Amino acid sequence: MDWTGATDVLRWLRESDPAKVRSLLEEADAVRRREVGDEVHLRGLVEVSNRCVRDCAYCGIAVSHRDLVRYRMTAEEVLACARMAARLGFGTVVLQGGEDYGLTREWVAGVVRAIRQETPLAITLSLGERPDEDLIAWREAGADRYLLRFETTDQDLYRQIHPPLPGETRDRFQILARLRELDYEVGSGIMVGIPGQTWETLARDLWRFREMDLDMIGIGPFIPHPETPLGRPGVPDAGPDQVPANEDTVLRCVALARLLRPDANIPSTTALATINRERGREHGLQCGANVVMPNLTPQRYRVLYEIYPAKASADEPPERTAEAVTRRVLALGRTIARGPGPRRGRGR
Ligand code: 5AD
Repeated sequence: MDWTGATDVLRWLRESDPAKVRSLLEEADAVRRREVGDEVHLRGLVEVSNRCVRDCAYCGIAVSHRDLVRYRMTAEEVLACARMAARLGFGTVVLQGGEDYGLTREWVAGVVRAIRQETPLAITLSLGERPDEDLIAWREAGADRYLLRFETTDQDLYRQIHPPLPGETRDRFQILARLRELDYEVGSGIMVGIPGQTWETLARDLWRFREMDLDMIGIGPFIPHPETPLGRPGVPDAGPDQVPANEDTVLRCVALARLLRPDANIPSTTALATINRERGREHGLQCGANVVMPNLTPQRYRVLYEIYPAKASADEPPERTAEAVTRRVLALGRTIARGPGPRRGRGR
């Protein structure tokens, strides 16, 4: 498929002929198979802390959510999860959390070193907009990858949903560029259907994936959380141009991301599995995705890591989640990848 710019993307987003949309999704599946194969990479997600200094208008663990019970896992608890990921045959562990400075530079570096020492896992961090010194120290400690979604390319919308901290000088794009310089594998992504997000914006978001040198691209629907400003009734949206946060739109975006960045690693996200519990995971994998991130967080913490409500598999033990995911992947005729997996494409 030839691409000249975001207007081509916009045309596909606005396409209303179901047969043409189907052909787009099928093309993305074919490109996925050709570029990254039938293997699905499993990354074990560990939600290390639900403390956060940020006040994002969409997020259930924002600092303003005062009633939420807060937790921070111990190093030993995180290590136990990493060991489980290795035991289950996963290639990667993802340590995700709110922007929590109680997770100190030294503490995270120590956990990364311990996982390195004890397991063959690749280590992904997703801990927010941390200072340069932290990102440097963690890379030196052995972290391989960093995830930081830019959420939207519309700067006004971004400022509304993501209030800056006082004195902040870097935006997420600058941090993503810095992560690249530090030789992390870099992942980013967006939410689809943020109130105020237009089709034009979404087309630019997807085009940005092509312009940026991303290794991983995560796309999920916006899911309103009732305890947040964007989850309360009567939130203004973009009217007739508002992007819906539905499965069809997300799948179209996953497919477009695959076609725009053929060799990227693209997860079928938990948020997608949340809006279609029966088939969301599968549909993502059939429209261009090649990664799944089963949640390995201990159950008592998992229920508190409520960035949006009714998160898929929030209520089951980690082994069960892993098993269920594996079953779903195999039922699609796909295979489970071993090892950390390549930066992009098939090779290392
Ligand atoms: N709905 C959907 N996704 C959300 N995220 C945070 N809050 C929500 C929500 N209410 C996503 C953001 C963030 C990632 C960790 O989770 O894109 O970057």
